[in-house]
Amino acid sequence: MPDSSTNQPTAADVDVSFTIPAVHRLRFTDDLFGRDRQVLIDLLQASGDQPARVQFWLDEDVDRANAWLRGAIDEVVSEHPKEIRRVSRFQVVPGGEACKNDIHILERMLKVMNAANLDRRSYVVVIGGGATLDAVGFATAIAHRGIRLIRIPTTTLAQADSGVGVKNGVNLFDKKNWVGSFAVPWGVINDARLLETLSDRDYKCGFAEAVKVSLLKDPALWQTIAHSTDAIRQRDAAVCHEVIQESAKLHLAHITRGGDPFENEEARPLDFGHWSAHKLESMSHYRLRHGEAVAIGLAIDVLYSSKMLGLPIKDAREIIGCLMRLGFTFDAPELLEIDPLMRGLEEFRQHLGGRLTLTMLEGIGQPVDVHTVDEAAMMQSIRELVECSIPSVAFPARTSTRLE
Ligand SMILES: NC(=O)c1ccc[n+]([C@@H]2O[C@H](COP(=O)([O-])OP(=O)(O)OC[C@H]3O[C@@H](n4cnc5c(N)ncnc54)[C@H](O)[C@@H]3O)[C@@H](O)[C@H]2O)c1
Ligand SMILES: [Zn+2]
Repeated sequence: MPDSSTNQPTAADVDVSFTIPAVHRLRFTDDLFGRDRQVLIDLLQASGDQPARVQFWLDEDVDRANAWLRGAIDEVVSEHPKEIRRVSRFQVVPGGEACKNDIHILERMLKVMNAANLDRRSYVVVIGGGATLDAVGFATAIAHRGIRLIRIPTTTLAQADSGVGVKNGVNLFDKKNWVGSFAVPWGVINDARLLETLSDRDYKCGFAEAVKVSLLKDPALWQTIAHSTDAIRQRDAAVCHEVIQESAKLHLAHITRGGDPFENEEARPLDFGHWSAHKLESMSHYRLRHGEAVAIGLAIDVLYSSKMLGLPIKDAREIIGCLMRLGFTFDAPELLEIDPLMRGLEEFRQHLGGRLTLTMLEGIGQPVDVHTVDEAAMMQSIRELVECSIPSVAFPARTSTRLE
């Protein structure tokens, strides 16, 4: 015990720092359940002389949009009896935020995993958008304190960002990801074919995260995106896949080599633009997609960065223009609810604990952490965005001056 008078360790105390070995396996395929099927098989480790026991979980909308998928998975399984054994029928969860918003769905997932006698060497393969990956991923992280998870993201956002990450969770108390954990997935497979059925609305969303990470870490990628907005809108496969891959690799590098994979430090640099994004998502009752909210959050924070941190205003305008050309809009009525929106700052701080730390930009590729926010400048940034997006609306005055 520390000596309570000095708070210094005593001779009997033992503090040992240690690292936890982990491997993050990221694969890129064109047709995972067709000609690239070996990629999945190779990720599975047999359990002794027994094939890997696998339970497949599907996002309901992905399942519906891809009538061929179950049959193709069945074929892969039946062709590789020595490597893989499917332990139950396909499990389906509601697509999108619905599966993160109902805590009873989590309980059902755990029951199904238990009924199939999954153990720590079994695999859950989850195919779906970021919301499905987060929810099923959380269930695998707490079942037996960790069942092997293979994520197969089916949205651009999940392929470019969340699917590669080490976080999972569901929403509680009307707050995003209030319950969740850090857990390194066994593997992640980004398959190009699975993106084909994604709506245009969702397809653009991943590029908000790609813009984000490029502004923080890779000015060359930022230039590529800014010059390819037409091709991206037209879903030009070669251009889009390159941007998604680069974004995924930047996220992976940050997680594996950034020194703080489980966010123990104050800063969460990858959450640039996210303090307001998370709040806008919940204020809109998830009408706004995560990527749409991130685009708005980025626009707010680049305007703020240009006012307070020296980001050239021409760069801020170019970033906002790029987001608009990608198809994002900044006319969410929630931007007019200034008091609840500003409370997003405190909620963001609380989620991480400690001091408020926001990542902003001094320049493109030059992130900076700030610990205080000039409220007037932040409100002015929001006001400017609103006034150019919803010209007929008068921006409301703030009713509360305290951040609670
Ligand atoms: N864990 C993390 O680090 C992290 C990071 C960023 C975002 N997220 C979370 O990810 C979620 C957003 O994920 P998202 O943007 O991938 O969207 P989403 O999972 O909400 O999916 C959007 C919609 O598209 C459907 N869909 C998905 N793939 C499809 C396909 N190929 N064809 C047809 N329909 C398809 C889904 O069923 C859903 O209806 C949010 O909950 C966000 O908080 C998590
Ligand atoms: Zn995000």
